[in-house]
Amino acid sequence: MSPDTTDAGEPGEGPVLVVDFGAQYAQLIARRVREAHVYSEIVPHSANASELMARHPSGIILSGGPKSVNETPAPTIDPAIYDTGVPILGICYGAQLLTQQLGGEVSRTGRGEYGRTPLTLTGRSPLFVDWPEDAEVWMSHGDAITRVPDGFVATASSPDAPVAALHDGERAIYGVQFHPEVVHTERGRDLLERFLYDVCHCPPSWTHTSIIESQVQAVRAQVGSSPVLCALSGGVDSAVAAALVHKAIGDQLTCVYVDTGLMRANESEQVEETFRRQFHIDLVHVKAADRFFEGLSGVTDPETKRKVIGELFIRIFEEVARDLVIEKFSPAGEDGAGGNVEEAAGYLVQGTLYPDVIESGSGSAATIKSHHNVGGLPEDLAFDLVEPLRLLFKDEVRAVGEELGLPHEIVWRQPFPGPGLAVRIVGEVTSERAEILRAADAIVVEEVRRAGLYRDLWQSFAVLPAVRTVGVMGDGRTYAYPIVIRAVSSDDAMTADWARLPYDLLERLSSRIINEVEGVNRVALDITSKPPGTIEWE
Ligand code: XMP
Repeated sequence: MSPDTTDAGEPGEGPVLVVDFGAQYAQLIARRVREAHVYSEIVPHSANASELMARHPSGIILSGGPKSVNETPAPTIDPAIYDTGVPILGICYGAQLLTQQLGGEVSRTGRGEYGRTPLTLTGRSPLFVDWPEDAEVWMSHGDAITRVPDGFVATASSPDAPVAALHDGERAIYGVQFHPEVVHTERGRDLLERFLYDVCHCPPSWTHTSIIESQVQAVRAQVGSSPVLCALSGGVDSAVAAALVHKAIGDQLTCVYVDTGLMRANESEQVEETFRRQFHIDLVHVKAADRFFEGLSGVTDPETKRKVIGELFIRIFEEVARDLVIEKFSPAGEDGAGGNVEEAAGYLVQGTLYPDVIESGSGSAATIKSHHNVGGLPEDLAFDLVEPLRLLFKDEVRAVGEELGLPHEIVWRQPFPGPGLAVRIVGEVTSERAEILRAADAIVVEEVRRAGLYRDLWQSFAVLPAVRTVGVMGDGRTYAYPIVIRAVSSDDAMTADWARLPYDLLERLSSRIINEVEGVNRVALDITSKPPGTIEWE
């Protein structure tokens, strides 16, 4: 069911559970609840009432979903939840489901509502405190509630939803046809807060400070006095995880940073500066660029590149980890005991986030992310995972990072692929070509930041294709590489739209890249969305 979490405590003191009926609705609701400083978790609809009650929930929210309650099969929830006394809020599909399960009627009216819709209040409800008569809400439904169950009253309507809100105050069961979690519902945040604070009586106590405090305690309790290793990548997740674990256990933590030669400009210096000098963390900086370029020599196939990089990373991490494990986890004693990897045991920090936990089916420990992190660590290194971010969404990770004092550049850094610049260099990856791309990429980042767009864009970077084109510079003919600018907006990298960068920014990029980066004589812009394109070029 739900991931292992802090002890939920007495009935009504636990999280607000968001029951997932598909698509992305549940995640957004859970985030909105947390934004109201109430802890929430997502649970599958297949969990039965006693499993849900074992979490001592303060409230239960039934999410929207892509199905119709009149389809078979359509997802349902154990109806025993309605007799638990725990306050319930059904949203869209959730509202229709509770209506149907409690004896009301949901009909296919043939007139759906999609997008902004006017709402008319028709009755009093503790969820609509101080609402205007003519609020706008966001609708997305084909079916409509046409009769409320016994004991319920309808409190709002819209042009094509005769019952747009309903409740049974006695049993604290509420339903709304619209989506309070989306920003287009003007008073949506208020409505959720009224449910959380006034109906569920949740205190707004889930704050970034409280997250840090509880995770510090949890890490201490988990690792005791054992040494802990963390692979730093330069990205935000591993950085925040390391800073959090360091706050909990100080010198018991050793961080390993492998410089593959495929990092962004200044990334290695920044990791050194932040972790060694600012946080005084024991940092092993492995300078392995030569080994990576040697391994990549002559390789042009994208998948082979990824494999070479992934395997080399693991081999290097393993070498370093073995030495560290022996030194810190099992030092050779005078009696000859210890000093070998088999007797060593320790912990490895992993920056797993809550969406990974939900996607991996939740409950079980998340498997180590494949790829370059620490994919196939050899079995004789008996690590247990420490995952201090496994309950957090990305925006919460960033807020925790700021609270812990990490620099803005790390906390707000755009995502960067594990194989680094290699998947942005089409054709052979050489040290020279990586240098060209790194220089061009630094200009893209700098100018996008200067234009105030860095945080708004999901990613913005440079790509180096494997062609050369003719140009003229001064009196001479040039034959050099083009640089392609790739900038996208996205919420989750599953889909993305190419960013409409302002012309003056494009002009600065073009002129600076051509003037400042040797080996480049042309700049092009990638105007492909995902799908059909991917964000990266390889
Ligand atoms: P694509 O190119 O598939 O990328 O649209 C989607 C997102 O994933 C990132 N990405 C990777 N991240 N290892 C990673 O850790 C990888 O091999 C990898 N390939 C792509 C990419 O930057 C984008 O954010």
